[in-house]
Amino acid sequence: MIVLVHGDREYVRAPGEELQTDLGVLTVPENVEPGDTLETHLGTEFTVRRLRGPDLFNHLERTGAPMMPRDIGLVIGHTGVESTDRVLDAGTGTGILSSYLGRLGATVTTYEQNAEFAETARENMRIAGVEENVTVRSGNIVENVDALITEGPFDVLTLDTGDAPDVVAHASELLSAGGYLAVYSPFVENTREVVTAARDAGLSDIQTLETLQRKMQFDDRGSRPSTRGVGHTGYLTFARNE
Ligand SMILES: C[S@@+](CC[C@H](N)C(=O)[O-])C[C@H]1O[C@@H](n2cnc3c(N)ncnc32)[C@H](O)[C@@H]1O
Repeated sequence: MIVLVHGDREYVRAPGEELQTDLGVLTVPENVEPGDTLETHLGTEFTVRRLRGPDLFNHLERTGAPMMPRDIGLVIGHTGVESTDRVLDAGTGTGILSSYLGRLGATVTTYEQNAEFAETARENMRIAGVEENVTVRSGNIVENVDALITEGPFDVLTLDTGDAPDVVAHASELLSAGGYLAVYSPFVENTREVVTAARDAGLSDIQTLETLQRKMQFDDRGSRPSTRGVGHTGYLTFARNE
């Protein structure tokens, strides 16, 4: 996938696809390269970029609130997820986390209980260029745990749902030896339930982190952390299967 940029307007297309806007029509050549300039039939120029992870926040259709880059970074850093991994994820939502994991080369199975959201997520996976290795399944992950234990083991289990504790209870059966669990929870009450479930499931190395991130501001008056913005996103609980 490539991003076509003209000023503050951006469009994602695959090679061979057409762009039709009020700025004119163009067909993206099959041999398009980042840095190329393409012109519409009205003479408007678009520069070409390769799509990268942060572009997903602007170009995927949003359903559930997506995980933010700082939390995705922690998930990747603390689980060491890699291209040979099988990942089980829920809920898909917009699919930002599963797209990032898919773009790392992991084979991802992600569950979304809302059928319309799942359909949107499948199109989002196409835009993210990961439809080959990310499978979006419609359904409630809790109701599918027994089948998933048979289908497993998975190397990494990522959860972003209110009922995550019900899945964490089975984490040791779902995960490979040494595999990692990562649970994102916006509220501390739910986080506590996740930690309790992880302990009861016999997982090790259980830790919960909150990422505090401050933007720096540099202007004529001086340099300091930005005084604007909300600090909290959520809590991330990590644990490991023995
Ligand atoms: C906050 S969103 C997930 C966002 C996602 N992590 C991302 O980065 O885009 C939560 C999603 O989980 C789905 N969900 C909640 N409980 C679920 C369950 N038990 N099984 C499958 N999906 C579930 C909701 O419908 C919602 O779309």
